[in-house]
Amino acid sequence: MNGNIIIKNSSQLVTCSGFEARQGKDMSDLKIINDGTVVIEKGIIRAVGKTDETLAGFDESRFTVIDAFGKAVLPGFVDSHTHFVFGGYRAEEFSWRLRGDSYMEIMERGGGILNTVLATREAKKAELIETGRKRLDSMLSFGVTTVEGKSGYGLDYDTELKQLEVMSDLDNTHPVDIVRTFLGAHAVTKDYKGREDAYVEYMIENVMPEIAKRKLAEFCDIFCEKNVFSVDQSRRLLSRAQDFGFKLKIHADEIIQLGGAELAAELGAVSADHLLQASEKGIRDMAQKGVVATLLPGTAFSLKEPYAKGRYMIDNNCAVALATDLNPGSCFTESIPLIFALAVLYMNITTEEAVTALTINGAAALNRADTIGSIDVGKKGDVIVLEFPSYKYIPYHIGVSTVEKVVKDGKLVFEKGVTF
Ligand code: NIG
Ligand code: FE
Repeated sequence: MNGNIIIKNSSQLVTCSGFEARQGKDMSDLKIINDGTVVIEKGIIRAVGKTDETLAGFDESRFTVIDAFGKAVLPGFVDSHTHFVFGGYRAEEFSWRLRGDSYMEIMERGGGILNTVLATREAKKAELIETGRKRLDSMLSFGVTTVEGKSGYGLDYDTELKQLEVMSDLDNTHPVDIVRTFLGAHAVTKDYKGREDAYVEYMIENVMPEIAKRKLAEFCDIFCEKNVFSVDQSRRLLSRAQDFGFKLKIHADEIIQLGGAELAAELGAVSADHLLQASEKGIRDMAQKGVVATLLPGTAFSLKEPYAKGRYMIDNNCAVALATDLNPGSCFTESIPLIFALAVLYMNITTEEAVTALTINGAAALNRADTIGSIDVGKKGDVIVLEFPSYKYIPYHIGVSTVEKVVKDGKLVFEKGVTF
């Protein structure tokens, strides 16, 4: 296949048109073309518009043609916050949480992230590639065409690099595009307990330079949280990361309000993520500095924590993105429809805003609003076809994927219901 594809007669071509993050009220306008067509040539979008006018300039015989009559067509979803490469599972911890133990209690007694660290250190690269590939297949079936993936289950030189190399390998061999983030400061290892400053210096001195040199990650992230890394430690690590050329993300104000949102604005981070406890000032700062607020309602749901104030953030002019946070501890799901339904039902984000949050704003959270996240001429041919006539069915069919086809770089890479 040559990446030449026409998707025509769509009842609703939801373009999400634009080349930058949408803030506040602008999140509502999906720029829909009724009876729309998109033409993709060599993997790149060449034409977008009403079916009759758009098809007039092209010889259909040179293309694979998908007739999307009666179906909505959207940009591929961008899942801009995941931890999808990890060894082992933590089903036992999930049952402890069901009986009342909190996520932080489990972490403080040496479980949680450190549990996954042991399993990830032990895992062979080939095993991580194998499980990572299966998770990517699952994400693709939900319409995800670009995913962010973090390290952070190594917490040492070898394993942090191993995780990033696994993602690089998968990026080269799987249709889903992967954006890599270095999260060496995800937790402190037992030998550094009480010496968090020294751990931060270890990461800065010994791990970060090699990752920068080999371009193994584009973003640097940190878990800024009470009893993990303080605001000062986060500022120190992220500032050095900036010197090395990394763009910034931050796990901010997830459980306790520490001022992570304010720090993200101060440093000009591309996104601040979680934000369940973000302060009003932090929210205003993010809006003013154009930091994307990446909300992860699956995590609030799974941890039984209060949801981030998505409605308030949009009303105060933030650019909100939505993502799964797929990881083995706080939120083990790659389900976009679950995240979507939680966002509209419990964060009072509208369906239109949620579409924006998973497309153009997800792309902006990865600094890629110029190349993905909307159906615009010149962007990558990453497009999904729903089995229903409107995007409004996405949260309505609760927890079930409405994605019928996924086109990546102009190639059909997933079709629902193809069984053997
Ligand atoms: O984003 N909060 C920190 N990190 C992850 C959870 C990682 C884990 O529990 O394995 C999160 O929720
Ligand atoms: Fe996370």
